[in-house]
Amino acid sequence: MANETNQLPAIISHCKEYGFIFPSSEIYDGLQAVYDYGQMGSDLKKNIKDHWWRSMTQLQDNIVGLDAAIFMHPTTWKASGHVDNFNDPMIDNKDSNKRYRVDHLIEAQVEKWNEEGKEKEAKQLLEQMDALLAKDDFDGLKLLIESNKISCSISGTCNWTDIRQFNLMFATEFGSTDGEDNRVYLRPETAQGIFVNFLNVQKTGRMKVPFGIAQIGKAFRNEIVARQFIFRMREFEQMEMQFFVRPGSQKEWYAFWKAERMKWHLALGIPAEKYRFHDHVKLAHYADAACDIEFAFPMGFKELEGIHSRTDFDLKQHQEFSMKKQQYFDNDLDPATGKPYGNYIPYVIETSIGLDRMFLVVISHAYEEQDLSTADKQDSRVVLKLPPVLAPIKMAVLPLNKKDGLPEIAESILAECRPHFRCFYEEKDSIGKRYRRMDALGTPFCVTVDYQTKEDNTVTIRHRDSMEQERIPIAELKSMVQRSLSI
Ligand code: GAP
Repeated sequence: MANETNQLPAIISHCKEYGFIFPSSEIYDGLQAVYDYGQMGSDLKKNIKDHWWRSMTQLQDNIVGLDAAIFMHPTTWKASGHVDNFNDPMIDNKDSNKRYRVDHLIEAQVEKWNEEGKEKEAKQLLEQMDALLAKDDFDGLKLLIESNKISCSISGTCNWTDIRQFNLMFATEFGSTDGEDNRVYLRPETAQGIFVNFLNVQKTGRMKVPFGIAQIGKAFRNEIVARQFIFRMREFEQMEMQFFVRPGSQKEWYAFWKAERMKWHLALGIPAEKYRFHDHVKLAHYADAACDIEFAFPMGFKELEGIHSRTDFDLKQHQEFSMKKQQYFDNDLDPATGKPYGNYIPYVIETSIGLDRMFLVVISHAYEEQDLSTADKQDSRVVLKLPPVLAPIKMAVLPLNKKDGLPEIAESILAECRPHFRCFYEEKDSIGKRYRRMDALGTPFCVTVDYQTKEDNTVTIRHRDSMEQERIPIAELKSMVQRSLSI
């Protein structure tokens, strides 16, 4: 049985065994920190995307979508600051040659101390690290690592190099000739695609500030410490929304989106104690306020989503580098002057969540190993208690037998329900085995077609979490499953 320390390995092997996630190009021994989503995982991931997209666009009257290209003009990344500033302070262990991100190395020590009951020392170390990071004091950070005897997990030594900066963007060349002039980057965030399209969307969509642009897409970062399964990947997906507001109103909107995003998470039924806010001490170069929503992953509380008040930094930078005005004309009246607010560059509140991290949230919370043994029989099951709206398969239809017209009835149920939600048909193995397989895939409802069905058009519906069964008319099936899909 998985416990707190081996829950992540248990989830990783479950994901592989049931077609949720495979290591990328596994037949060639995989590629570090790159993963493929399988037949179940791709559906679960898509359902998370659809759920986010619906709540951030369809259910809002002032947020619209965008699907910008991954490649962008290279000047974008000069303007955004990524060419010069998208660096992480890194340190190498001279004995193992293993490279660490400084904050991750120190945070691992903090976690270790917390587990050993040295909470006071852990808290102090974290505070010292935050203070030194805020000042970019690399000598001080190295001293902190050495004086606390923080060692390399491979060599076990404290033989460290100086701390250096390392840029995380992947570069490649456009066209057939090499060279600086053709260098383009794989985008490290989707946000810049939104910023450079701000006026296109505002004008063609006749949007009025405050309004938002939402986008889901791939991002790429040459992460050094790429580990912990899909938590930190080199190719991942982000779900980002930039909300453009009147300068001076950003504090209010920042508070609004902080609350809104937490509401979104809690609506999925995951308990509030698994989430917490972490306010940033060291603000990124573009922010005047920022926090993370952290989640209690199997490896502890870690960042899931960032909410950033990005000021007018990005639009101003793009205005300067492109020499194209990025202003908005606001004809609402300013109560202070009685005149229109006029031209300004909007301020921006950003919500940015990693889709893969959200996948890990959903699957790690849903994963449960249950001992169902009784006095005379050993039994257990692994169940994924996924919210029905996110489950890859909503309903499995299982004829008791492969004959006597039962498969035909099952087929007619599938024909009725398939256009509305994803169904699955299975006639192999005993009913008990089929139930277990559906539990492991997170299917909330299993429908059994038996001989009574032929007589009275009723079926047995089995509920995944309670394992309770009830008999209902076939005519009620579709609406029953559909009701469970609304949040
Ligand atoms: N546009 C702002 C931005 O990109 P970020 O905090 O660097 O901010 C936002 O990233 C979110 O993207 C994170 O909270 C995390 O969920 C996800 N993310 C970032 N790097 C990731 C990685 N290497 N692998 C998986 N998800 C990642």
